[in-house]
Amino acid sequence: MTDRILTVRMEAHPEDSHTLATYEATGGYQALRKALTSMTPDDVKAEVKASNIRGRGGAGFPTGVKWGFLPDDLRPRYLVVNGDESEPGTFKDRILLERDPHQLVEGIIISSYGLDVHHAFVYIRGEYPKPARRVQHAIDEAYAAGYLGSDILGSGFSLDITVHLGGGAYICGEETALLNSLEGRRGEPRIKPPFPAVAGLYAKPTIVNNVETISNVPWIVANGGSAYAAIGPERSAGTRMFSLSGHVNRPGDYEIVMGMTWRDLIYGIGGGIPGDRALKTWIPGGASAPWFVPDEHLDTPVTIDDVGANGSMLGSGAVIVMDETTDVVAAAHRIVKFFAHESCGQCTPCREGTTWLERVLWRILNGAGRPSDLDLLLDICDNISPGLRWPPAMTTICPLGPSAVSPITSIMRHFRDEVEAKIRTSEGASVG
Ligand SMILES: Cc1cc2nc3c(=O)[nH]c(=O)nc-3n(C[C@H](O)[C@H](O)[C@H](O)COP(=O)(O)O)c2cc1C
Repeated sequence: MTDRILTVRMEAHPEDSHTLATYEATGGYQALRKALTSMTPDDVKAEVKASNIRGRGGAGFPTGVKWGFLPDDLRPRYLVVNGDESEPGTFKDRILLERDPHQLVEGIIISSYGLDVHHAFVYIRGEYPKPARRVQHAIDEAYAAGYLGSDILGSGFSLDITVHLGGGAYICGEETALLNSLEGRRGEPRIKPPFPAVAGLYAKPTIVNNVETISNVPWIVANGGSAYAAIGPERSAGTRMFSLSGHVNRPGDYEIVMGMTWRDLIYGIGGGIPGDRALKTWIPGGASAPWFVPDEHLDTPVTIDDVGANGSMLGSGAVIVMDETTDVVAAAHRIVKFFAHESCGQCTPCREGTTWLERVLWRILNGAGRPSDLDLLLDICDNISPGLRWPPAMTTICPLGPSAVSPITSIMRHFRDEVEAKIRTSEGASVG
């Protein structure tokens, strides 16, 4: 049984893993041939459902279940691949787009066949020009080879793929803001329901899936859903890409089977902390996720459910490691500043709240904190995400506002002494 699915080709063919010639020479497009010649669309959907794959974009929703939400009687339907990848610390879709674009293209064609989609879109963040060029080139090669366009491989099935570049807004990764952006509108999240599967792009049924999710589809179809489901823990099946960054000796993208512990990931795969300094904290799933600490979480398994049960999320697979030298207030401030900057401004608690949080943290950081700031921070957080529980309750249309709450509740829970100490040293200072 292979322990990697997505990145084997990149390692064996580092210079040309993105070309059609290498992709075909390493078994590429065989799964598409299999799907088109010996499987019905329902067979494809059944294999994806049997694989138990859960979405790799953030929420971890089971892909087969999502695909089942498409209404039977409405056409056209669309497939939209989310390659916006703007969550701080996340850089795993970039290498999938850049180093193995045909794997994604094949995944799109097979998925579209299964879903009865005839026009698919790939939305790529604007700051990814090289990955976007590579994907467009792969699409061009696929058209020329007869894998795209009309009557693909003589099967009667037809598909077109359009690549669209974002304009640099994090919020356009949220699936309904992404759909608005694709339609040429302002990138603001839509109120749900209706969910995109019922009324998405151009108000038509639409499946939105992450780049990594769809990149797994060729392997699932080639090897069978049950083979995929057999990799790793039952409810966190398959391999998964992790972007490991911060204070680790070996930062980078890693494809691993879920179920190992955080100790294995940070000290084994990541090679531990530079200078043998102590691990202070880490973010297990992107800037939106509550932080973990060694005393409580080092031996927690890296699975969607174990991380969820411990009050955080695997999210987009971005692991940001911070050692003992980290000023956690500065780290929290930096993250909150990002969310304040990226708030689309549609919902008042997010637009105003994230900005207030950033300002209060800034003054604590700069020697002008007040004793009342601790309660003030938590009060603002409570207005964005009532009860401060996990998973978060929301007073907003989308989870961007509650994402800004995570770093604050994390430092309050694990490092309150440090926040208080900063405020004590600033007592008497003038207000910032
Ligand atoms: C503020 C925000 C930003 C997001 N950014 C991304 C992103 O860059 N890429 C992504 O795949 N999903 C992102 N998501 C999640 C998407 O809304 C959606 O759940 C995902 O694309 C579904 O794909 P999946 O089921 O394959 O995971 C974001 C969500 C939010 C709330």
